[in-house]
Amino acid sequence: MSDETLLADLVALAARAPSPHNTQPWAPRVVVAGPDGPGVEVAVVPGRTLPAGDPTFRDVLLSLGAWVECAAVGAAAAGRELVVEPLPALRALDALPVRGPADPERPVLRVRLGGAATGSPAATPADVRERAVYRGDLAGDPAVYDDLPAGTLAPGLRLRAVDPAVLARLVRWGGVGTLARRPVAEELLHWLRLSPEHPGYARDGLSDRVLLVPPALARLGAPVTRHLWLRDPALGALGAVARVADAALTARARARGGAGVPAPERGVHHVLVADASVDARERGGPARAPVLDGRTGLPEERVLDAGRSLQRLWLHAHRAGHAVSPHSEVVDVPGPHAALRRHLGLRRSEVALAVFSTGRPLGEVPRAPRLPA
Ligand SMILES: Cc1cc2nc3c(=O)[nH]c(=O)nc-3n(C[C@H](O)[C@H](O)[C@H](O)COP(=O)(O)O)c2cc1C
Repeated sequence: MSDETLLADLVALAARAPSPHNTQPWAPRVVVAGPDGPGVEVAVVPGRTLPAGDPTFRDVLLSLGAWVECAAVGAAAAGRELVVEPLPALRALDALPVRGPADPERPVLRVRLGGAATGSPAATPADVRERAVYRGDLAGDPAVYDDLPAGTLAPGLRLRAVDPAVLARLVRWGGVGTLARRPVAEELLHWLRLSPEHPGYARDGLSDRVLLVPPALARLGAPVTRHLWLRDPALGALGAVARVADAALTARARARGGAGVPAPERGVHHVLVADASVDARERGGPARAPVLDGRTGLPEERVLDAGRSLQRLWLHAHRAGHAVSPHSEVVDVPGPHAALRRHLGLRRSEVALAVFSTGRPLGEVPRAPRLPA
């Protein structure tokens, strides 16, 4: 198989990478005559980012990292190493417009095939294709990450367990906090597809199927996702209710001082935490004040690498017969984010990048669609 054909296959495989709201913010292009031979240049699609919900590009970078990891799994299965080169535009994501297509002249990274792969890959292309998020009930196994192969987590990353009762409360608080913030709720609505009549139903976004929305509720909500004139009143009403609930949950959290309420165990819950001081030390600087380096407090390359680690964790769970359910709202909304930091006792230099539950799915796992190749 020629390198160009293999690269095209890797692009098709990496399309199965997870992304926030299934936005698929990547625009890969196979370049036959790159500086080091054939490769794939990946640009970011501005219209597939979440300017309101993901203003720091944390989730865009994590999903680009997941994309790279999926491509690397494919390359390893073909006996090759994947060489990843971050490009200057990766550090200038702020210069992107808020909508529109990708600019192929401003790729954020380039990948190419290297020499023979060393070691045996932990995951296979079939794992990449079959892995899926599941938002229903999960039967957790606390040992799921006890046998992580060495190198699953990039240096400076830690996986911290979260108490189920605390997480249940933070997820509720994050959920109402999301709906209470109008631009974030509007963005979520934009990516919701509650009926097959939605033009994006088989392409991207979050459908009633993957969200496990009861059919009656999906029928009720579907017109709101398709007709702009219905969005205003719907968001207004939802926002008003959510703001009251948000205020109540915030007040309750203050009164309780961070303790959780008992909740049914749904999976085991983890937070992927990066230590920003690692970068400062590597560059010989002080071990503090890394927040100047990037909008998450981490250099973009580190978040990209964390996305690769996150995908390795999710693939590891998949291989054990588990699924994951992410809860980004916990780190997106300031109240629950601060409470999570307190609960975990994070240092100032530590950044909570991703929160997710893992467990054996107790129902059929629906598959999310992808854009056509
Ligand atoms: C960085 C990141 C954050 C995510 N956050 C959430 C989340 O908060 N809630 C959720 O239900 N799914 C979340 N997801 C999962 C995506 O919605 C999911 O990957 C996408 O819909 C595609 O589905 P699939 O992974 O099952 O193929 C997240 C995925 C990524 C990569």
